[in-house]
Amino acid sequence: MSAAEADAQQRRWRILVDERLPEAAAAHPDWPVTRNHCFARILLDNACGGPWRESVAPPAWANMPPERLALAVSLGEAVLAGRQDLAALNRRSLLWRRKRPVAPPPKGLSGDGFSLRRWRLADDGPFAALCADPEVMRFFPAPKTARESQAEARALDRRFEEDGFGPWAVEAPEGFAGFVGCWRPARPLPLGGLIGRETGLVEIGWRLARSAWGRGFAVRGARLALADAFTRCALTEIVAYTADRNGPSRRVMERLGMSEVGGFDHPGLPEGHSLRPHRLYRLAAADFLAGDAV
Ligand SMILES: CC(C)(COP(=O)(O)OP(=O)(O)OC[C@H]1O[C@@H](n2cnc3c(N)ncnc32)[C@H](O)[C@@H]1OP(=O)(O)O)[C@@H](O)C(=O)NCCC(=O)NCCS
Repeated sequence: MSAAEADAQQRRWRILVDERLPEAAAAHPDWPVTRNHCFARILLDNACGGPWRESVAPPAWANMPPERLALAVSLGEAVLAGRQDLAALNRRSLLWRRKRPVAPPPKGLSGDGFSLRRWRLADDGPFAALCADPEVMRFFPAPKTARESQAEARALDRRFEEDGFGPWAVEAPEGFAGFVGCWRPARPLPLGGLIGRETGLVEIGWRLARSAWGRGFAVRGARLALADAFTRCALTEIVAYTADRNGPSRRVMERLGMSEVGGFDHPGLPEGHSLRPHRLYRLAAADFLAGDAV
């Protein structure tokens, strides 16, 4: 964007939040805000995927990267055109600012021909079967025993109580098919050099029975889980990582629009192990939500 175009965009932004939105508010008693600075907060937070002051120094209209300001402007235009729900954008902004409590996890999330739900004891058998399948576990150090799988299933479901989100059980037409969802890594990973922090991360992952592969459950399930994590839980970024050689898992990350950040050696695997080299991907809430923003 040239300097003149950036200038014109900044002018559009100021007219939008100082004049057009406050004037339009008179005809929209359902809008949660009426003042220019409230419109600016909502649009800027949603364009940044979190409280805008965490990534931009004030004044935002002057310091915001032009592509982010462009997103904020198009969000505002979409609100004016009735294509975006200002109340939903406001809820997200207030959640990010911790001005609203996070709602408890829903019982499940519905997809087209499948659903995500909380774990059941009856999942133990099919989960143990998929974790004992050497083909499913070929990018893990080893398949798991039934006892290890049962302990893992309990630990995965406990995440919902501890964090308010977790890896969902995938319910296919034929029953339990594996899991997809988000969780906090159990121990810090050496990611400081790649993304500048090693704690406070949330990752997304998946593991499906072989009979469920190639049916889009991982990508479509992950989109449901991400939408829930970025809206209800107001997370601002989610990472994913896998062994370099795990092409199917990397393809899921790419289909989700995640950006590859770089490589690192997984500290849980010994030097020289073929699965030790890992790739890290990241996805910002703003980029995911922009998909349905304008
Ligand atoms: C990683 C894993 C979940 C990916 O499964 P997958 O079946 O390849 O991924 P999806 O369920 O999203 O399916 C995508 C495929 O389904 C196809 N598909 C069919 N219907 C679809 C639909 N409605 N929507 C999207 N994709 C669809 C896609 O075309 C795609 O196939 P392609 O990659 O050959 O083009 C699976 O390989 C697995 O469980 N691996 C073992 C465990 C593992 O490694 N986990 C990751 C550890 S980091």
